[in-house]
Amino acid sequence: MSELKQVEREALDALQGVATAEALAAWKSKYLGSKGVVRDLLSKIASIPAEARKAYGQEVNALKDALTSAFDAREAQLAQAALQRDLEGGALDVTLDGRPRQSGRLHPSTQTLRQIMAIWADMGFQVYKSRDVELDDMNFTQLNFPPDHPARDMQDTFYTVDPSVILRTHTSPGQIRAMHELGENGTQPIRVVLPGMCYRFEQITTRSEVQFHQVEGLVVGRNVRMSDLKGTFTQFLKRLFGENTAVRFRASYFPFTEPSMEIDVECFLCGGAGCRVCKYTGWLEVAGSGMVHPNVLRNGGYDPSVWSGFAFGMGPERITMLKHDIQDIRYFWGNDLRFLGQF
Ligand code: PHE
Repeated sequence: MSELKQVEREALDALQGVATAEALAAWKSKYLGSKGVVRDLLSKIASIPAEARKAYGQEVNALKDALTSAFDAREAQLAQAALQRDLEGGALDVTLDGRPRQSGRLHPSTQTLRQIMAIWADMGFQVYKSRDVELDDMNFTQLNFPPDHPARDMQDTFYTVDPSVILRTHTSPGQIRAMHELGENGTQPIRVVLPGMCYRFEQITTRSEVQFHQVEGLVVGRNVRMSDLKGTFTQFLKRLFGENTAVRFRASYFPFTEPSMEIDVECFLCGGAGCRVCKYTGWLEVAGSGMVHPNVLRNGGYDPSVWSGFAFGMGPERITMLKHDIQDIRYFWGNDLRFLGQF
């Protein structure tokens, strides 16, 4: 027993002299390690006379507990001392300002999309979400592009390994899907907007990207006329750009609308006088549109002698660029916080 007391005294004395992490580890391995003093004392138990064994075992375990808690205390002491040294040595400057938290914000395209969608929702349009990965058939053929129609050249396409499956080049194939899904075999009217990402295999330049959003619109009903398209879209543009916005419809061509029109607003940067942004025309093109082609109505399950409709498609990135005078479309997907943080 006095031997154990002796060991304890020695060990605790030695521990007081320990001043570094290395010395602390060496002390631990010497006394508490798997080949250490305590383990050694425990293994001697077999040679202790039977009547003294129990007491001996208890004493060794008490020794082990005492050394363990002394070790923990010394370790904490040394850590505290190290921290103190660091503080006094200037390694930590507790007077330094904290790092400011960056607040997240919505991408400018998302902001414009939400603004656009809120206006259409207000005007009684439902949202129909179509798919990004489309059938070539939906993207072109059902929209009245025959297989070798030159209009297919207007849109350079990303094909998948299966050439009948592509990334949609515009949101218009959603028109066909919406007619099938909501039209109930050509018996129900439709009034939807279809937002989504589109993809074109194009050279990336300041004005064209390989991906961009579109917001498509589709109305199908009885007696839907061109005047409905013009009135509805004019109303939308006034809500988006302001009550005094002048709107102009220009004859154009799309295979899936007939007649087709390009829609311009008077340049809100120069008020129509002509400037760099509107290329001195006084007008900015914001959407394509037209009356749904009879073939497209038929492909959607409607009888074109009874039903008619209009459709439009616009690009939120282009509208955002015009609104904020953004010169380069590549900023949109460049993930540069210096750009994104401005909105
Ligand atoms: N899909 C056409 C485009 O991508 C836009 C459009 C949509 C035109 C609907 C008419 C009707 O350019």
